[in-house]
Amino acid sequence: MNRSRLLVSLFILIIVIISGGVILSRAQVLAKPEQPIAFNHQTHVEVGVQCLFCHTSALRSPIAGIPSVQTCMGCHEQIATDNPVVQQVAGYWERQEPIPWVRVNSQPDFVYFDHKPHIGAGLNCESCHGNVSTMDVVRPVVKMDMGWCLNCHLEQPQERIARLTDCLTCHK
Ligand code: HEC
Ligand code: HEC
Ligand code: HEC
Ligand code: HEC
Ligand code: HEC
Repeated sequence: MNRSRLLVSLFILIIVIISGGVILSRAQVLAKPEQPIAFNHQTHVEVGVQCLFCHTSALRSPIAGIPSVQTCMGCHEQIATDNPVVQQVAGYWERQEPIPWVRVNSQPDFVYFDHKPHIGAGLNCESCHGNVSTMDVVRPVVKMDMGWCLNCHLEQPQERIARLTDCLTCHK
């Protein structure tokens, strides 16, 4: 093999490795995680439970919050008690253990995100999390990187843009 063909092969190999890495890391970012309990959003939204009934804190704090086992048992002491997954939930309740839910969306520590101003500005959950009401397992629908935040902040009224694009608004 002559030198230029070797270089071309090397070049192709490097491209393959890099794009493989990018595809893998994207797949990881957008994969649905394994949860300790097979909790189904669609079932609950269909029977009429509102997002904010379970994620109450989204209205008034940075975090939306995951409901406690006590909240689940508020219904499941009576409802679907013979369902094996509901019985697993009751097991956590009897042992007084929290369910170790795995985070789906998470920002690095150096990013400041707050649900409250977003809900206050009239955005709904779907504008960032997609149509959770039809998901059996919640998965991320977009890569929540800096470009994603900034794109939406740049669409806000002119007088708000300076603040919404200030580095210190998101990096405190
Ligand atoms: C009956 C309670 C309940 C209701 C109603 C509910 N959720 Fe959830 N939600 C949970 C639980 C429990 C989890 C954690 C397990 C999981 O990720 O599936 C969760 C997780 C999530 C997550 C992922 C959190 C993370 O780790 O990033 C999002 C986003 C979410 N819910 C949005 C919604 C939206 C939007 C609605 C309304 C359409 C809704 N939820 C209704 C209980 C509920
Ligand atoms: C406001 C009442 C309510 C709350 C709170 C609630 N559920 Fe349910 N859940 C229901 C109803 C209604 C059903 C549907 C029962 C049926 O189809 O027979 C259901 C069904 C289920 C099922 C059966 C499988 C399925 O999804 O169809 C599981 C498992 C379950 N819930 C887990 C949970 C967990 C875990 C929590 C707490 C994070 C929770 N539920 C909170 C009302 C509730
Ligand atoms: C402007 C975009 C946006 C909107 C609107 C939004 N979220 Fe989120 N949500 C995020 C981001 C970004 C994260 C990751 C935050 C982090 O890791 O600090 C997140 C994380 C979460 C989490 C897991 C961590 C936590 O805060 O408890 C839940 C649950 C959640 N969102 C539910 C909801 C619900 C329910 C609504 C509607 C009431 C909603 N979100 C509206 C962007 C949004
Ligand atoms: C879909 C649109 C949208 C997305 C995506 C979005 N934001 Fe926002 N953000 C808004 C709106 C609207 C406001 C409220 C502006 C106002 O109060 O006028 C806001 C306000 C904020 C504030 C409060 C600013 C203040 O006034 O102090 C912070 C912090 C913030 N966003 C961080 C983020 C971060 C971090 C992300 C990405 C992880 C993000 N946002 C993604 C629309 C968005
Ligand atoms: C609207 C919110 C927002 C604003 C404004 C913002 N950032 Fe970010 N930034 C993020 C988020 C979210 C991440 C993490 C996700 C990512 O790496 O894209 C991030 C990541 C970063 C990183 C790490 C990148 C990496 O690859 O690890 C740097 C450096 C950074 N931002 C600098 C800045 C500077 C400088 C400014 C001001 C010119 C700024 N940011 C303004 C949201 C924001």
